[in-house]
Amino acid sequence: MRILIFSSVWFFILSVVSLASWQFDSLEASGKSGMVVSAEPIATSIGLTVLKNGGNAFDAAVAVGFALAVTYPVAGNIGGGGFMVAVDASGNPIAVDYREKAPASAHQDMYLDSTGNVHPTLPLLGASASGVPGSVAGMIHILENYGTMSLSEILEPIIALADTGFLIPDYLAKSLASQNSDFNRFSSSKAIFTNDGEPKTSGERLIQKDLAATLRAISDYGTDGFYQGKVADLIVAQMQASGGYITHKDLDEYHTIERKAISSTYRGYKLFSMPPPSSGGVALFEMLSLLENADLSKMNTGSAEYMHLLASAAKFAYADRAEYLGDPDFVRVPVERLISKTHGKRLFVRVTEMALPSDSISHTEFSDTESQETTHYSVLDQFGNAVSITTTINSGYGCKEVVEGAGFLLNNEMDDFSAKPGVPNQFGLIGSKANAIQPGKRMLSSMTPTIALQNGKPVLILGSPGGSTIITVVLQVLLNVLDHNMDVGQAVAHGRIHHQWRPDILMYEETKFLDSELELLRQKGYSIRPVSRLGLVEAIFADPITGMIQGATDPRGNGMAAGY
Ligand code: GLY
Repeated sequence: MRILIFSSVWFFILSVVSLASWQFDSLEASGKSGMVVSAEPIATSIGLTVLKNGGNAFDAAVAVGFALAVTYPVAGNIGGGGFMVAVDASGNPIAVDYREKAPASAHQDMYLDSTGNVHPTLPLLGASASGVPGSVAGMIHILENYGTMSLSEILEPIIALADTGFLIPDYLAKSLASQNSDFNRFSSSKAIFTNDGEPKTSGERLIQKDLAATLRAISDYGTDGFYQGKVADLIVAQMQASGGYITHKDLDEYHTIERKAISSTYRGYKLFSMPPPSSGGVALFEMLSLLENADLSKMNTGSAEYMHLLASAAKFAYADRAEYLGDPDFVRVPVERLISKTHGKRLFVRVTEMALPSDSISHTEFSDTESQETTHYSVLDQFGNAVSITTTINSGYGCKEVVEGAGFLLNNEMDDFSAKPGVPNQFGLIGSKANAIQPGKRMLSSMTPTIALQNGKPVLILGSPGGSTIITVVLQVLLNVLDHNMDVGQAVAHGRIHHQWRPDILMYEETKFLDSELELLRQKGYSIRPVSRLGLVEAIFADPITGMIQGATDPRGNGMAAGY
């Protein structure tokens, strides 16, 4: 296989560089052998090229991850972190945690001002908001442990893409323009993402020479190319110049963690998702354990009755999230109890006709204890490996500050900690001691890369961005396929709702639901609020009967599904 890949590498580079001038449009795709779905077409094409050249799903996923760092700066990254949930060709589940960490000098009150209030910008804007990045270590870990290609084979065409640039599509021009004032705060960001302070326009070429040099260092030296040497020096210099906390020691000590994928069942399907420090898998399985007690397939997905049941499940799960979830290396998280079928049954009987006010729900007492940005991609290969990765720099364009000379945006993931108990973060999420800031701790996430299996074979691979809304978005798409027999394209396109316990508001996507059903929700006591969109799902369905593979990117975004 290695010979096959080497003989194809120049074809690969040439095809990728030519891709940089193409326009793409493929919301859905089908294939018999492999599939890649991501939020950005060039990255999808690079992943598909890897698969077609004999690489496996892990090789393709790492290529997509690095490519997104070049072509999708709003959320693709090398300055952030992520989670991979995978099932290998033998059916073994894998969970890789490359979440950012709090620097060693971080402390519980680091974002409180002199009056004890959370500072409005320090946890969000600029280098002060950054956790120690994990993406480079994580992607290299995945490649070395599960891939078949070398890092330089994967990175060569992606370095060329950063070096020679790609044409800025409409959506990216609009997105960059919307952030122009923030880019202008930081000379390093202004230099890359603006034309002397003015927004870049659609059709211009986005050339990222410094990013190409950083990727070259990673290609030449592996993790040392990022966590040591020149790139590390540039990160630390940026911290010192901008009031950040990350030191050489923090970078040197960063490590990826292999976790045990969290598992559950739902109506005969086996499910794998991400355990803490993500809350995603726990909250998803807690909601499913409650919902399994109702026959959802008989309910209309646009009805008030259905939305009420889902919102009730979400309120319980998010109340428990706020109390119990945090980094398992620092706090004990009662995962098995929260996702147990018994707990689900107990919560189900508490669902009433009317909306339960969130004030009447608190976390469950156990007797003895206890912007919408981020991006997801899904990959399935000809060998049967299924990969589900969600990665993030938190807000769109992270903390908005590029590392001068290294060409990549830093994350603002520190805002995912609970900076002060009971005070909401940017997603309106509140937390407790379990997610308080501590040196070296991983901040709680909502990312929910998930895989459903039938008879040991992956049938559904999915995930989404969307901060706190990720978990309910993944829930609804999963139910649309498993309970409501929608094809994956319909399942992804279908209107969505969201409730997260606090604030006590039910969000719904405007124009997707009937006024009559929304009125019934009001009569049940819900405070409802329209939003333009919830999540951006990238999903793959593998039909267990026909063997056909279908991919669907979310029509709310600008991604692409491609298969063969
Ligand atoms: N930064 C969003 C999340 O991890 O949930």
